[in-house]
Amino acid sequence: MYNTRLDGLTEYPFQRLNALLAGIEPGGAPLVMSIGEPQHSPPDLFAKTLAQAPTADWGKYPPTPGTPDYRASVAAWAATRYGLPAGFLDPERHILPVAGSREGLFMAAQLCVPPQKKARQPSVLMPNPFYQVYFGAAVMNGAEPIFVPATKATGFLPDYAAVAPADLARAAMAYLCTPANPQGTVASLDLLKDVISLARKHDFVLVSDECYSEIYDTTAPAGALQACAALGEGLKNVLVFNSLSKRSSVPGLRAGFVAGDAELIAKFQKLRAHGGAVQPIPVLTAAAALWRDEHHVQENRRLYRAKIDDAEQTFGRDFGFYRPAGGFFLWLDVGDGEAATKKLWREAGVKVLPGGYLARAADNDSRGNPGSAYIRVALVHDRQRTADALMRMKHTLSSLSS
Ligand SMILES: Cc1ncc(COP(=O)(O)O)c(C=O)c1O
Repeated sequence: MYNTRLDGLTEYPFQRLNALLAGIEPGGAPLVMSIGEPQHSPPDLFAKTLAQAPTADWGKYPPTPGTPDYRASVAAWAATRYGLPAGFLDPERHILPVAGSREGLFMAAQLCVPPQKKARQPSVLMPNPFYQVYFGAAVMNGAEPIFVPATKATGFLPDYAAVAPADLARAAMAYLCTPANPQGTVASLDLLKDVISLARKHDFVLVSDECYSEIYDTTAPAGALQACAALGEGLKNVLVFNSLSKRSSVPGLRAGFVAGDAELIAKFQKLRAHGGAVQPIPVLTAAAALWRDEHHVQENRRLYRAKIDDAEQTFGRDFGFYRPAGGFFLWLDVGDGEAATKKLWREAGVKVLPGGYLARAADNDSRGNPGSAYIRVALVHDRQRTADALMRMKHTLSSLSS
């Protein structure tokens, strides 16, 4: 006996990648650029603060809402980052810690998807391609995922206003990823305002995944909290997720937050008291110190930018290369993502991810899987190794069609 909804999940992309590359030897010093796991060093501040945390704090069960200090650090960071009016974000009513945004993004569907909406199966809107957790969360909570194209033709962002009226009416939530994984696109403040207005009009929850918000090229991306402040009506119908994984290069710390609608946050706290992963108090102490420091984040951005400069030098306009406005992925149009992935591993020793593994061919959509022509390349290693790998990739891909 088990939960048969699990049968609706596909293998996670990295398992599919392992199967695709099984038996193929890497043709060169192997470099894994398939997974978006930041490899830059976290700032010294992190280890120092963690070491200084009182040992006695390990002897306490961490409270579900975290510590007041952690919530205050997040509120102060967000208020400065998004220029929020004083008191707009109340650390006691609008913020909860999450053990990385992934865990919270998944649980958000447990929070927001009712058994039925308008006497029908609820829908969950998501961009296509999408972060796989959105799909798993929708399916495991009995909702129908609605894949909304986020392709070159749509500016690599989903147009939720264009969703069929019947699917919008039964929408329980919509995931938005900005900066987007894998495309690196950033939603403008106006787009965020429009999506929030749409969510309020149709009474669904906008779940804004902003975990790449601090890795950007030239302009700090707008955020849904900022859009809420610009719109009025507080944080109604909105939940924003972010974490330190990318910002501070500590994906192993599992430190993030959810901020938004006070009513939803109160219900989330109730739900999380039953099944949420809580973070140890010393972890929250170290994480708070990271949210309060911007120097290391600036340095982090500089390192990513330098690698994007190198990528631009290497690819020019080949394979549809463009500078991602945010995040650290290249989204390259190679014609056949799986074939290119195999070739890159076999001939260059570079492991990338076929774009088709991050997207889905929507039912009744003759355009097929919108990611299958692409590969996703994570620029997470040091500059030299990344630059070498990009050169090898360019060389290997250039012979793709010959
Ligand atoms: C789009 C997106 N959202 C959320 C996450 C989860 O990150 P974390 O749980 O480390 O905050 C990732 C991780 O790669 C991601 O790419």
